[in-house]
Amino acid sequence: METAPEKIDLSDVSLFSDGTPHEAFRLLRHKQPIYWNEQSDGSGFWAITRHADVLAVSRDSETFSNERHGIMMYDESFETSGRERTMLEMDAPRHTRLRALVSRGMKPRKVLALEHFARQEFSARLDECLESGDCDFVSDVAGQLPVQVICEMMGVPKSDRHHLGRLAHRIQGFDDPELGGGSGGENSDAIQEMSRYALDLATNRRRTPKQDIATDILQAKIEGYAMDDAAFAAFFLLLITAGIETTKASIAGGMLALTEDPHQWSELQEDPRLLVTAIEEMIRWTTPIHHFRRTAMRDTRIAGQSIREHDRVVVWYSSANRDESVFEKPFSFDITRSPNDHLAFGFGSHYCLGANLARLEMRIVFEELIARGVEVDRRGNVDYMLSSFTNSLKRMPVSMRATR
Ligand code: HEM
Repeated sequence: METAPEKIDLSDVSLFSDGTPHEAFRLLRHKQPIYWNEQSDGSGFWAITRHADVLAVSRDSETFSNERHGIMMYDESFETSGRERTMLEMDAPRHTRLRALVSRGMKPRKVLALEHFARQEFSARLDECLESGDCDFVSDVAGQLPVQVICEMMGVPKSDRHHLGRLAHRIQGFDDPELGGGSGGENSDAIQEMSRYALDLATNRRRTPKQDIATDILQAKIEGYAMDDAAFAAFFLLLITAGIETTKASIAGGMLALTEDPHQWSELQEDPRLLVTAIEEMIRWTTPIHHFRRTAMRDTRIAGQSIREHDRVVVWYSSANRDESVFEKPFSFDITRSPNDHLAFGFGSHYCLGANLARLEMRIVFEELIARGVEVDRRGNVDYMLSSFTNSLKRMPVSMRATR
């Protein structure tokens, strides 16, 4: 028997313990696409689950604000958070100016120059894993490149990278008791440690500029405005949290799908030109960020439903990316899917700034696996991070061997 939509509580993190609750989203899309999700404390939020409505909300950043009360489901007020805003937590014109400034620092030429470094780095790690045979695909393979690339961009010394990667994992696992989330304040300790690290990095680069993106961003100016150290630290935290776990999740989620359908892995190995559509499908299939939240700036309507000023509006990318009215056979993983209008990178003015970097990293990982003809066999169950925000795997034990 189907669960009644009014019994669904998307704020209950246990709903996500085995990954995305697709059945709940399917029900909501069909029965109550603009759904008032009441929470146990009497408050609530609008859950937006259809592709067209997620697009409409994301497109209209004047009505649906990132700045007013924050972007996380539970954020109340920024003023009491004691934290510096990231660009994702701003609206125009502040956001526009900061985004232009950062884009000036992250020139495509500089980002592309990372490819050589990334390929060498990943090849070495992959060969080590292949030598030992058994490994955890998530930490030993998928998690290697994203942390190295962001740290290389920002000029973080090699000796600090592993530690920052662990901190990022803990920050993202804010609901997962195994990662120090849920209670005990370990998560905010990790945020504070990361912020202190970024402030030190800023001081250091101002004193001794280097040939890295961190220096470029600190030196960039737009209409006389430049980032101060606190704004730089907030940006660093955003890059580390937005850029590591997400890319790792897409690589691991993509490989999980391929181990469940080995025929498509063989097809990809035989014709690596399929990587372009395959990577996009891995991102749609995984959808590493389940949702972001907006706040209504005025009384309005979404698909006919009245929304009051100040209401929380949560856009669920995980649901939009399985919308039957947009994707043919949305529950089939198809490496040849085209078109693939997924919303995993969001949409509109905050569209993911690292989308092309994430695609580049994924291409390198899968090209290197294909070049070695790697066979991947699962050796046990996968574990998901307990989170209604990030769709990420914690573990995927595998044995791997090169056939070329
Ligand atoms: C597959 C990997 C990734 C996914 C799924 C992803 C997803 C997202 C999403 C959903 C947003 C919000 C978009 C919106 O509100 O419309 C976002 C924003 C952002 N992402 Fe990513 N991201 C990924 C990789 C990266 C990487 C590698 C970086 C770093 C270089 C990065 C940096 C950012 C930044 C800075 C923003 C804020 C942009 C703004 O506010 O204007 N992301 N990302």
